[in-house]
Amino acid sequence: MKKLWAGRFEKETDGLVEKFTASIDFDRKLYEQDILGSMAHARMLAKTGIISKQEAAEIIRGLLEIKLEIERGQFPFTFELEDIHMHIEKRLFEKIGPVAGKLHTARSRNDQVALDLHLYVKQKISEVVGKIDKVMKVLWKLAEENRDAVMPGYTHLQRAQPVTLAVHFDAYYQMLKRDKERFYSAMKGADMMPLGACALAGTTLPIDREYTRELLGFSKMYENTMDAVSDRDFVIEFISCSAILMVHLSRMAEDLILWSTSEFDFIELDDGFATGSSIMPQKKNPDVLELIRGKAGRVFGNLMAVLALMKGLPLSYNRDMQEDKEPLFDTVDTVISCLEVLPGLLSTMKIKKENMMKAVEDSFADATYYAEYLVKKGMPFRAAHEIVGKMVSYCIKKNKKLKDLSLVELKNFSELFSEDVLGLSYNPENVKNIKAL
Ligand code: ARG
Repeated sequence: MKKLWAGRFEKETDGLVEKFTASIDFDRKLYEQDILGSMAHARMLAKTGIISKQEAAEIIRGLLEIKLEIERGQFPFTFELEDIHMHIEKRLFEKIGPVAGKLHTARSRNDQVALDLHLYVKQKISEVVGKIDKVMKVLWKLAEENRDAVMPGYTHLQRAQPVTLAVHFDAYYQMLKRDKERFYSAMKGADMMPLGACALAGTTLPIDREYTRELLGFSKMYENTMDAVSDRDFVIEFISCSAILMVHLSRMAEDLILWSTSEFDFIELDDGFATGSSIMPQKKNPDVLELIRGKAGRVFGNLMAVLALMKGLPLSYNRDMQEDKEPLFDTVDTVISCLEVLPGLLSTMKIKKENMMKAVEDSFADATYYAEYLVKKGMPFRAAHEIVGKMVSYCIKKNKKLKDLSLVELKNFSELFSEDVLGLSYNPENVKNIKAL
């Protein structure tokens, strides 16, 4: 097929090269942004008198028809046409004839593809933030409902101190709140218009970038044409925010996986959000959570891929940059699918408050309370720590818990213990007093 850029070529492109360089399989995702950008560009060309209003109207009509064709699945895609930009332009020729050739005036695919990506990332930031909000809502509700669910908090995965389940859910809520803010700041880098930079050096034609910027709703435009076509910071920022978000989702998944084991037995996933085994009839597996944990890895990989892709590129545009799209698209799909499945999973799981409390009672998670009790009676903390450590050791030998010790036994460790120490252990008030919620 004759290429739109074939003028200086004397031979057809080799078939393998066509396949090798094609990006249409994945960049067709950008059709909407591409058409939106082209329509704004055509309007700008008409406003500045570079093309006539009539020509712009024809171009826009053709572009809208193409959009419908794509949406109805009637658009002819072929790898011979490389990418989405070439596909749309070539189709425009078929629809409106030679006037289609005016659309690409004062534009290059380099600023065109950058524009498409900026529009795409802006849109995806809003979408992802909306989905984060939905997960946050569920976490908030779970925190509210579980203020009284006393459970061991862990450090080193060893029972540490009593906390509530509410504090756990709130911790994840706080992480997601920071994620939201991070995505909002990534919007700054995405909200910049590269159009008008053309290939790398702008154009001698009298374009009006300010007008295009306004039409497309960008807050700012690039100040440097070479920077405009070669900047992918906003892609890296988006994936980087996504990677941090995935760290949080993965950690939450890990906690829930642990809690759903027979060993912990703090929660049970709803049947609708668990899976079975092909051989072991008794199994109920937390595959959804494991996949969230696993998918975090691929988002980190995507971030590495784009960082490595960009690090050695000379200014300005290089075809390497076509490789930015798959990691970006994969990140969007991954993050959105994880965020979508979580609200249902979280709101349907069964919470076993009694087992959580039992885990506290079976442990020495209250030891710090005793040390702090002694501190309140005037003892230096290090001395109190030492004494309660000895009490724990004594209890282990006697197969007792701290709350089982009588006042007489306690006084053997320190004279500062008196009546008010009894009942110190699992009072939910204690738990609440030391926590934000
Ligand atoms: N498909 C290309 C990309 O994604 C579009 C830009 C191509 N520009 C060029 N001069 N070959 O980067």
